[in-house]
Amino acid sequence: MSKAKIKRYRCAECGAISLTWSGRCQTCGGWGTLFEEKEEDLPGRPRESYAKKITLSEVGEIRRFPTGIDELDRVLGGGWVEGGVVLLGGEPGVGKSTLLLQSAISMAEGGKKVLYVSGEESPSQVAMRAKRLNARDGNLFLLCTDDIDEALQAAGDVEFLFLDSVQTMRDRDEGGWPGSPLQVRVVAQKCIELAKALGLPTVLVSHITKSGQIAGPKLLEHMVDVVLFFGGDKTSRFRVLRSEKNRFAGCDEIGIFEMTERGLAAVFDPSKVFWNEMALSEPGVAMGVMLEGTRPLVSEFQALACATPFMYPKRTARGVDLNKLHLLLAVLERRANLSARNFDVYVNIVGGISTKDPGVDLAICMAIASTITDKPIPRDMCFLGEVGLSGEVRPVARAALRIREAERMGFKKIVMSRYEKGEKSCNIKQIGVESLKEAVRMMLS
Ligand code: TYD
Ligand code: MG
Repeated sequence: MSKAKIKRYRCAECGAISLTWSGRCQTCGGWGTLFEEKEEDLPGRPRESYAKKITLSEVGEIRRFPTGIDELDRVLGGGWVEGGVVLLGGEPGVGKSTLLLQSAISMAEGGKKVLYVSGEESPSQVAMRAKRLNARDGNLFLLCTDDIDEALQAAGDVEFLFLDSVQTMRDRDEGGWPGSPLQVRVVAQKCIELAKALGLPTVLVSHITKSGQIAGPKLLEHMVDVVLFFGGDKTSRFRVLRSEKNRFAGCDEIGIFEMTERGLAAVFDPSKVFWNEMALSEPGVAMGVMLEGTRPLVSEFQALACATPFMYPKRTARGVDLNKLHLLLAVLERRANLSARNFDVYVNIVGGISTKDPGVDLAICMAIASTITDKPIPRDMCFLGEVGLSGEVRPVARAALRIREAERMGFKKIVMSRYEKGEKSCNIKQIGVESLKEAVRMMLS
């Protein structure tokens, strides 16, 4: 008796398998993400012969190609990689297409054959942007299509493939709209297969969701070699490029750009950008040194406390996590006797940059303490330290580097943890404090 074939459905979002179809995945809750998994979809396994194994010494060196943009090279760890697939995500209008086109133009000028596929813009739109970026005729090829097979066919004789974007491409043999989980997965899979087969460095631009995640199945991020995020406040000119995943290098470098009339320009002295050099000392401003990757950035932290009659005062944070702000307010109240209960509190990092670095806790607390007490902090003073729940000020990562940066930017004093080793070769006065209370008292006296 022949066995009846059991149907299996796989979620394109989380990969979970289900034996019945449903409109919603029971595991991840995604809607419309279950698709029947057919036998021919499964990767085949060689039965008779053994797969060819290799030893480590047989593996060649990774070949890298400079992107033509130093900041981008820095984030990627030296450039595009042979056969490497990069996913570039970011909000609409942040400058993803501009960044890629700039790299494409620069490489094409260096004699490389680059194919830029756009599923979003017409040839005249791309050409107009290329002209704005000073492109000259040469080895840069444009293709405007939403058909992935057409795009990959055209990529057969080029050295680099840039696809803008993975959500606008579609495979006509599969169902679903462009951008649906199935289409995104199939499009990415085809690009990855081609990249690996030809050793073709490939970049896929990706949209992001409202919550800032790469749009499409989570699987997408697992499939590619590198995930880059292009971020920054669109109201400011500055943009920050970070890598979230990199199979070829570390993830700790960032690239800082400024959007100009003629495309993206590297920012060589970021500390100057994130520091609003006002002559006036206003209450609510404290300077800190954040660490982004391996770069120390002197940044200005601003806080504003406004009296409110309401039971639930408002807390707004720009550049720092809102939960972090709640935590620091609680520590200020319980450990430094500074209550913000009757105030709405707004916190902001100047320049539209955001950070998760705990080394700026003390600077944020001091900005809040300064606005609550309405006392300005001297402009030549800077803060460094993580603040714990007991109100203790803790040492931070790479303190010496940050202290040197503070000195370079002209600060005369830096307040930090008493347990910090400090930097002996600097002239900046290094003041050690044990607790937040001590730091607040020192500022108020
Ligand atoms: P774009 O690269 O299209 O963003 P994305 O692909 O991420 O959606 O462009 C971003 C913005 O940058 C757009 O509003 C226009 C602006 N821009 C400049 O200011 N200068 C320039 O030289 C270019 C090309 C664009
Ligand atoms: Mg774009």
